[in-house]
Amino acid sequence: GAPISNPLIKLHEEVAEFYHRVLLTTEVGVRGLSYANSRQLDKEIIEHFKIGYAPKQDNILYTYLHDKGYEDATLAESGLFVENKDGRLFDRFRDRLMFPLDDENGHIIGFSGRRISEDATQAKYMNSPETKIFTKSKVLFHFAEAKKAARAEQHLILYEGYMDVIAAYKAGIKSGIASMGTSLTDQQIYLLRRITSNIIINYDGDDPGIHAEERAVDMFQRVGGFNLGVVVLPEKLDPDEYVKKYGVAKYQEEVAAALSPTDFFLRRLQQKYNLHNDREKLQYLDEAIKKIATLTNPMEQDIFIKKVSEEQGVSLDSLKASLMREIRRLK
Ligand code: GTP
Ligand code: MN
Ligand code: MN
Ligand code: MN
Ligand code: MN
Repeated sequence: GAPISNPLIKLHEEVAEFYHRVLLTTEVGVRGLSYANSRQLDKEIIEHFKIGYAPKQDNILYTYLHDKGYEDATLAESGLFVENKDGRLFDRFRDRLMFPLDDENGHIIGFSGRRISEDATQAKYMNSPETKIFTKSKVLFHFAEAKKAARAEQHLILYEGYMDVIAAYKAGIKSGIASMGTSLTDQQIYLLRRITSNIIINYDGDDPGIHAEERAVDMFQRVGGFNLGVVVLPEKLDPDEYVKKYGVAKYQEEVAAALSPTDFFLRRLQQKYNLHNDREKLQYLDEAIKKIATLTNPMEQDIFIKKVSEEQGVSLDSLKASLMREIRRLK
């Protein structure tokens, strides 16, 4: 690609290389490497994702960069250091497995570090702070690589976490990206829209993950123009845990069986009510109708309402009458 002119990006590229080398070739890196192995990250994966290790030892990164001639002002701007009262800089990331975060052109602009120690008082992941080059709400993990794969795979798959994207990669799915937590942003959606309209959402199978999937579906639909699939994994598993437990073939089946937003919504709604009880069934139907009334695509409304009719043994006519009433009410 084009030469990198931004000195902060150049610094990040150098730091990623450093952490990566520490992980793979040094004595202090052995601790990071054994953690990586315990997470089943092999050499090929470590290289593809340029995973690194930020050691425990004091100020290894600072010393390395200072000795290379970097000025403190540049280092302070990078976000990779914390400053004490006297203005001295200290490595921000310590004893963490480092995931470089890159922009849409594949240039490294920040990091996220996975805690290695059992010390739960430390955050599980620590990210770079916002800097001139890093705005977290606009970054998707693995986006630059995934967009290359999106053409062949015909979709992008959205995950919560780094390890999920990596698990997918091991399963041959190279179009995985992560919103890095569950708080997807509109800016991230705009990035995706430029690549493909086919998006599969595969957040964790736990309650926060499923709620975040509902929120994500709403956000994608509000932006509009997407063809969405939703994967809900069983047993509260996240994709990484699922692949570990059931293997890549089963995981591929889960992805292939992604639900339409409609099916996903109905399934969630059904779980809220005891459908053997008439009163609850009416509440269920009422909520379903309210949802259908908000859909802007008439064909989607049609598919939706037929499903409810068949599933619940309620006539299409009465559902349509309720739907018309609800639509008039909304106007
Ligand atoms: P592993 O335990 O390493 O498998 O992580 P996970 O990806 O399963 O974690 P989880 O499902 O809890 O969170 C999903 C994603 O949210 C992570 O991959 C991170 O991107 C982000 N995240 C989780 N915990 C933290 C945290 O403590 N701080 C920050 N900044 N991000 C976090
Ligand atoms: Mn000096
Ligand atoms: Mn989660
Ligand atoms: Mn998870
Ligand atoms: Mn996980």
